[in-house]
Amino acid sequence: MELKSKIAIVTGASSGLGEAIAQALIHEGVIVYGLARSADKLQAIQRKLGHQFIPVVMDVTDLEGIQSWIKSTFEDSRPDILINNAGIGGFAKIDAMPIEQWTGMIDTNLKGMYYMTAGIIPLMKQHPNSSHIVNIGSIMGTTTKGEATAYSASKFAVNGFSEALFKEVRSDNIKITCVNPGSIETDFFVHSGIEGNNKMLKPKEVADTIIFILKTPDNVLIDSIMMRPLRP
Ligand SMILES: NC(=O)c1ccc[n+]([C@@H]2O[C@H](COP(=O)([O-])OP(=O)(O)OC[C@H]3O[C@@H](n4cnc5c(N)ncnc54)[C@H](OP(=O)(O)O)[C@@H]3O)[C@@H](O)[C@H]2O)c1
Repeated sequence: MELKSKIAIVTGASSGLGEAIAQALIHEGVIVYGLARSADKLQAIQRKLGHQFIPVVMDVTDLEGIQSWIKSTFEDSRPDILINNAGIGGFAKIDAMPIEQWTGMIDTNLKGMYYMTAGIIPLMKQHPNSSHIVNIGSIMGTTTKGEATAYSASKFAVNGFSEALFKEVRSDNIKITCVNPGSIETDFFVHSGIEGNNKMLKPKEVADTIIFILKTPDNVLIDSIMMRPLRP
């Protein structure tokens, strides 16, 4: 896809990987709707990136909010790209993790991705050109460890969802890619309470890889990739 002047939606754009993806897309001339819950962070990013970044205060678990935003925003235009990036992590033994935290990961990482995708796919089906949805999974959606039942279940589900959807909509000229990164240097480690290290991937390195995937010729689909730091 030629990226200049295209329209993208990036969820979880207020920090970390989502912010880096928004920045990389804007560098390519894309108009970016950046969704997250933190209005102050989104506004600070708009001051940094300029008016090609359009902040949208949205909780991806709010089905009605998403549906009405999509309806009012895309009356006369169509999104070319959707990056389902919003996600949360938490790690604890199954009998120690509060139920709200366990179900919160499923609500955000899986249902939020489904709500956005289900709202956008009908618009992409009407698009005269190809469109592309990138779902951010995790290495924890391909292999796992103890104390990760919720996060891993949600990210394995992101992988299954992505593969089923790719098989469903490829004939509609819609590409689906699942990106499964290892550890990335973001606030994920602050919020999830696990320890990072000083050899993690940089958000820009993952964002630049996503730009490469988006720029592939129309008949080329990278359906999933895994990225790891070489020496974690
Ligand atoms: N960091 C890693 O090592 C790593 C590795 C593999 C995969 N990932 C995945 O990468 C994605 C981005 O995470 P990150 O590392 O960049 O962490 P991050 O810096 O904590 O960013 C998470 C983003 O998601 C947003 N978000 C969380 N809940 C939301 C909700 N209910 N509605 C809307 N937005 C919400 C946050 O914004 P608000 O709080 O403002 O809403 C924030 O912008 C996640 O899907 C994560 O699972 C991360």
